[in-house]
Amino acid sequence: MTKLEAKNIVKYFKHEKYNLKALGGINLQVEDGDFVCLVGPSGCGKSTFLRIVAGLENPDEGEILFDGKPVSGTGPERIMVFQEGALFPWLKVIDNVEFGLKMAGIPKEKRSQISHRYLDMMQLTKFADSYTYQLSTGMKQRVAIARALVMDPDVLLMDEPFAALDAQTRDLLLVEMQLIWERTKKTILFVTHNVSEAVVLGSKVAIFSNRPSTIKKELAIDYRRPRLAEDEQLMKHQQEILSELRPEVKKTKE
Ligand SMILES: Nc1ncnc2c1ncn2[C@@H]1O[C@H](COP(=O)(O)OP(=O)(O)O)[C@@H](O)[C@H]1O
Ligand SMILES: [Mg+2]
Repeated sequence: MTKLEAKNIVKYFKHEKYNLKALGGINLQVEDGDFVCLVGPSGCGKSTFLRIVAGLENPDEGEILFDGKPVSGTGPERIMVFQEGALFPWLKVIDNVEFGLKMAGIPKEKRSQISHRYLDMMQLTKFADSYTYQLSTGMKQRVAIARALVMDPDVLLMDEPFAALDAQTRDLLLVEMQLIWERTKKTILFVTHNVSEAVVLGSKVAIFSNRPSTIKKELAIDYRRPRLAEDEQLMKHQQEILSELRPEVKKTKE
């Protein structure tokens, strides 16, 4: 079943002397439970597209359909996982995780029940009463993911969440992310410029062209999980994506 559909999404940005056409008509169909990784050259509009799907920005043309119906603005069914830097340093881990539930008016007991489930899933139970500045970057990232998951969205939107992590933490989170996806059956849209990350995580990889961007190719990646970055079977997919990306990167002129 199609969960989310982008139909001909076009986006311009006004700059001093010209209008920059960032998105040139993005068409994407995301099935329920898909893990779609979006890759593309830097500046091609991946973040812009994700923000439009989240409803944080409006397209100039086109529309986003959720369960077949057009959506505008943000909604509880599409939740963006912000970078760990967006956590509240004055709140304990548990209060960060419960923040959205509290805003939604969920009573304390119910909040606590839900948050403990996700703290446990993220192996954060022991740190429930810590402050986020006491955690490593990888742990903070897990808090950020838990904070989004407690809202039980159908679609989880992630914009380069692992970009700032060291290699070992990233490897751990790559495995954890796959387990979370399998356990929660969420539909995930995950932006990354890292091709190896995309083939490890994605059930599908959508490759953006250079600006004004369109999706130039979609690739299904069917391979056992949890996948590891060094899995040799994934190399051929990586090569294929890189060969699609190479001419796009050359075209980039800022
Ligand atoms: N608010 C904005 N105002 C003007 N230009 C913007 C704005 N946001 C993004 N852009 C431009 O749109 C293009 C796409 O940006 P972005 O979506 O951040 O790319 P990516 O995430 O793929 O690196 C870039 O050229 C960027 O400079
Ligand atoms: Mg970006």
